[in-house]
This record gives sequence, structure tokens and C-alpha cells, in this order.
Amino acid sequence: MLSDARSLRREQEEQKRTHGCYYTAGATNPFALGAFRAWARLADLPQRRLLEPFAGQADLLRKLDSVGLLGASRAFDIAPTAEASKEVKKRDTLQDFPQGFDVCVTNPPWLARNSASLRGLCFPVCVHDDLYKHALEQCLQNCAYVAALVPESFIRSFSRFALFRARLHSFVSLTGALFDETAHPVGLAMFSPRPQNDIALYRNDVPLGGYGELQNCLPLLRKALLSKPLLSKKRVMRFNDPHGELGLFALDNTKEASIRFCRAEEVRGYEIGVSSRAITTIKIDHEVTKKFLKKINDVLDDVRKKTHDIFLTAYRGLRADGMYRRRLDWGLAKHLIDAV
Ligand SMILES: C[S@@+](CC[C@H](N)C(=O)[O-])C[C@H]1O[C@@H](n2cnc3c(N)ncnc32)[C@H](O)[C@@H]1O
Repeated sequence: MLSDARSLRREQEEQKRTHGCYYTAGATNPFALGAFRAWARLADLPQRRLLEPFAGQADLLRKLDSVGLLGASRAFDIAPTAEASKEVKKRDTLQDFPQGFDVCVTNPPWLARNSASLRGLCFPVCVHDDLYKHALEQCLQNCAYVAALVPESFIRSFSRFALFRARLHSFVSLTGALFDETAHPVGLAMFSPRPQNDIALYRNDVPLGGYGELQNCLPLLRKALLSKPLLSKKRVMRFNDPHGELGLFALDNTKEASIRFCRAEEVRGYEIGVSSRAITTIKIDHEVTKKFLKKINDVLDDVRKKTHDIFLTAYRGLRADGMYRRRLDWGLAKHLIDAV
């Protein structure tokens, strides 16, 4: 009996992961934000009929309704919950996407390809590294206007896929509580039928500037920020090297923006393994002087201020100042050292 219950629970958990059944049931309403309202005007909501193709228990429809932006709508899900079965029709929309809708608002299923293969879960045949990108592609191929809740990291990777690059209209980094079950950093990506001069970026209701504009602040770092291969300078730079003379606290603490370079002695007390990502020692081919440390930390602070951290990896959980904890990845760190 006990093992039956256990295997049922395991099966349910597996189903939940495969279909990414994590509902947007938190208190925050991203559709109340000015950036979404501006996009909704473009998409002619609530006049135009709306599609929610991955609706779960219809939380997004309720959130739209509560800000007066829900008109006629249809909602589908591969596994609608019993409570929502009147509003949400059962359908595999990845296989059979609903036709005849111009506007789509959704939170598609998220599942990383590597996590699916580690757990032996099904993953569709596609070019993407995450199921949400595959789902988003279906939405964009079928609807002129699409707004989707996606991992915040989307803003660092969208430019690698032509359809996303051509249609992204605006992007909001959201720090409110959207989910009950996960604290994953999340963003709201809004798409229109035509390419924009620049993609408007926001943190909640605060405009941060245009995507291109922010990148142009950083001519030296542009390539690294675009995740292109690093500049190929032939210089020694080895991360997680126990004999490295440069130290790096690469992850913000829980209070504030605290990423900084330092002398290796400062981090010697911490355990640094080959796969350390938060604290490291770096082997470089020159002396770590006081002047070098000041300069590199000033450049880092300047980059963070000018780009509002939008290009740094967001970490689960907010800092005490209400911002996402950020991590400086080795690619960008390498580029900073190179630049300084
Ligand atoms: C992250 S949840 C979001 C649910 C809802 N949009 C929300 O924001 O609360 C993703 C939903 O996609 C559904 N889903 C996954 N694969 C699907 C498919 N092939 N066709 C239709 N729905 C699917 C899951 O059942 C799940 O309810």
C-alpha cells in the first residue's frame, strides 16, 4: 500500500516536471505594470480575443480580469486542473496549436533540456535548450502579439534565435512574488509583429533604457555580454586555480550588490573546487596591485550601474534591498580582467 502511494506520488511529481506545472498563483500581478498596459494597448486588449495556450488553473486569466484587460478568451492545457475544467479545455497545444488568435498571454512550461535528460523525462525534438523557448516559438509562429512569463535569463539569450530577436518588443525583470512553489528569477517578455528600433527594458515599473542603448554603454564588454566567444588574447587566466593570486567574490550576498575582486589571501579560507562558481582564485599573468584592484572594481561597479545588472545572471532569492542576487560568470569576469 505504502509503496503504491509512493510510486503514485513519484509519477505525479514526474508529470509535474515534464509538463512544468508551476502555476502563477502568487500575489503579484505583472499585468498591472505600465509596461504591460502599454503593450496591451498595442495588442488592442481587452477588445481582441485572447489565447492562453498553457493555462493550468487559469490564474493568468484571473490576473488579466482583475486589471480590466480580459475580454473574450480561450484557454487550453494538456492537463487542466479539475477546478478550472470549465474555463480550460484539454489539448496538447505543442502538438496542435490553436489557430485564429492574434493575441496570446501565457506562462509556458519551463524545463531545461539537460534537466530532462538527467531525469529521463521526455523532451520534444527542437533546437532549443529549454521547453519554454520551444513553446514560445509556437506562440510566435501563430500569434502577432505574445506576452509570456519566462526565466529572467531570457534577456541574455534571446538574441541567439532570429525569431525572438526580430519580435521582442519589451522586457520586464520581475522581482515580485509570482509563484508559490518556486523562487526562480522571472521576466515578462512582450512581442509584437514587427522589429523595434530598440527593446524597452524595465525592472517592475522602472524603465531601465533600451537594450541596444545599455549595450552601447559598454563598448569594451559588448562581445562578452552578447555571449559571443571571448576575445582570443593569448594570456594566462585560469579560474579555480589554487595558486591564483587574484580573488573574486562572484555572487552577491543576501544584503546588497557585493561582487568584487580582491587579493587571493582574502578568499583562502573558503573551499574552492574545480566547479566553484561563487568564490574563486584566478591565475593571471601579472601582479595584483592595489591600483589594479581599484580599477577593476570601479569598472565592475560602473558596468553594474549602467546596465542595471540586466546582463548578469540572476540567482534565486532577492537581496535585502529588493533586487535579485546576481552572479558574475567567468566569461564576463575574464573580459573585465582583460579590459582592465
Ligand atoms: C508553468 S505552468 C503555467 C500555467 C499557467 N499559464 C499559469 O501561469 O499559472 C505550464 C502549463 O503548461 C501546461 N503544458 C505543458 N505541456 C503542454 C502541452 N504540450 N500542451 C498544453 N499544455 C501544456 C502544463 O500542464 C502547465 O499547466
